[in-house]
Amino acid sequence: MLTEIKINLAKVVAPLISVEESVLVSSMESPKNSEHGHLSFPVFSLAKSLKKAPPLIAKELAEKLQGQLPEFLQSVEPLSGFLNFRFKSSYLMSAIEKSILAHPEAIGSSKEGLGKKVVIDFSSPNVAKPMSIGHLRATVIGQAICNLAKSRGYEVVGLNHLGDWGTQFGKLAWAYKAWGSEYDFKGKAFESLYALYVRFHDEAENNKELDDLGAAEFRKLEAGDEEVIHLWKWFVEISLKEYQRLWDLLGVKHELVLGESFYNSHLKPTEERLRSAGILKESDGAMVVEMDDPKMPPCLITKSDGASLYATRDLASAIYRVEDLKADINLYVVGVDQTLHFRQVFEVLKKMDFDWWENCHHISFGMYRFKDMGRMSSRKGNIIVFEDVVSKAIEMVHSIIEEKNPNLKNKDSVATQVGVGAIIFNDLVNDRVKNVDFDWDRVLDFEGNSGPYVQYCNVRCKSLIRKSGESVFKTFSAPLDSFEESQLMWSLLGFEAVLAQAYKYFKPHFVAVWLLDICRQFSSFYAKHPILNADEDLKRSRLTLVQSTGLVIEKALEILNIQAPEEM
Ligand code: ARG
Repeated sequence: MLTEIKINLAKVVAPLISVEESVLVSSMESPKNSEHGHLSFPVFSLAKSLKKAPPLIAKELAEKLQGQLPEFLQSVEPLSGFLNFRFKSSYLMSAIEKSILAHPEAIGSSKEGLGKKVVIDFSSPNVAKPMSIGHLRATVIGQAICNLAKSRGYEVVGLNHLGDWGTQFGKLAWAYKAWGSEYDFKGKAFESLYALYVRFHDEAENNKELDDLGAAEFRKLEAGDEEVIHLWKWFVEISLKEYQRLWDLLGVKHELVLGESFYNSHLKPTEERLRSAGILKESDGAMVVEMDDPKMPPCLITKSDGASLYATRDLASAIYRVEDLKADINLYVVGVDQTLHFRQVFEVLKKMDFDWWENCHHISFGMYRFKDMGRMSSRKGNIIVFEDVVSKAIEMVHSIIEEKNPNLKNKDSVATQVGVGAIIFNDLVNDRVKNVDFDWDRVLDFEGNSGPYVQYCNVRCKSLIRKSGESVFKTFSAPLDSFEESQLMWSLLGFEAVLAQAYKYFKPHFVAVWLLDICRQFSSFYAKHPILNADEDLKRSRLTLVQSTGLVIEKALEILNIQAPEEM
């Protein structure tokens, strides 16, 4: 909508001030201070050709326009080197009626990606291990990017590159055969599996022979030994069942699960392609591809015993995504600790002469730092587990509800929606490349920059509409001229532009931060202007704004994969 508004404005204004329409459209921006107007045109680029100082140019252009002000503009004011435009509220109201209210199903949507496919590798845990806090980030950020891409019109394939292959499965099979009977695989299959994993590694510290036994078992797996294959499949099944519970809790869905093992039959052909590209070199018995930058270690393709590696499988998988799945864009939502790995993989693809290597992007993210480790129990194996963090949030929201709103209906499901939403929002409100200082007080601060704050703002909108006794408002019945109202309307119209920016950089925090701003603006509108007690026409008009705000907040929450409770 914002683009349309800019184009409309430029069409009328450009000829009046003898500036090219396209220049005006592309250079208009939001003023630093919203009190200065809705859109701002920096005139600095005109200084050279007009041979005048920018403040003077802005002043002269403003005067020119003020004499023949287009009817949809409230004002045009010069401010140093800027020309600031403010729209009439009637114009904003009609823009909202035509977009948000007439087509609520299409709020924020765009056709930018039509006909293009994005494959998004996200969450991708490792079989037999609990999802870590890093996987929580990969899951939450990945799903938000999937939703963003869908809203831009792309065909999206969310892909789970499950870590289901490697020597650790030989170790696990050995451990199961040796110690399995000591564990409860009927009641606590996943916990038992992980316990075996941890125990094997503990014992192998003092008993080097175990690694050889594990390796021998892995060779059996690779050779197709039925018993070991059966065990391996069962480990995968137990793990997927465990992960599914968490994905369900977070409302996460992959379109496709292709674990690392899926590429086993692709590895030899991939190696052949590397060989015929002339880039495969021997090094101490291993096969590697060297990097251009001598400071970067070579990418290891096969070990001296012929075994493939994580990178080999990622090469095969990238080729599969492009050649078979027909991906136009390949995204990998994986922590910053794998930066070197992806740089190597992408460089090898480039050396293989795949021009599409440039459409592969590592969507990297930083780590969580816990302010108060004491409130976070870490399980055996010394990792902070994804599920523990989410359960803790739900539990804490439960107590808050018991204390503040004990008569709330559906307390359990609301606590889940709010607890999970708090964790997701707390993650997504940060620029993903930065580390996140995890502070429980902030995560659950109902009045702060939190998920519950946003959800509560939406609940307030819904409750106002409910109290009005009507359910649908489609048109404004009286002008909404105050600063708060016009500012809120203006911001709502900018939603699609925010989604465009968030997708462009694959950074959902642009949406989360913007959403907080909308909620703050809604709160000042709500605090200053009576709604249900206003005169009939004004009341209906304000309720129309309330409804528009609620619709946009809900859509934004949906993109972030956060639920919107009716009450809380
Ligand atoms: N399983 C890996 C891990 O947990 C993440 C996989 C990411 N995707 C990929 N194509 N390498 O570290």
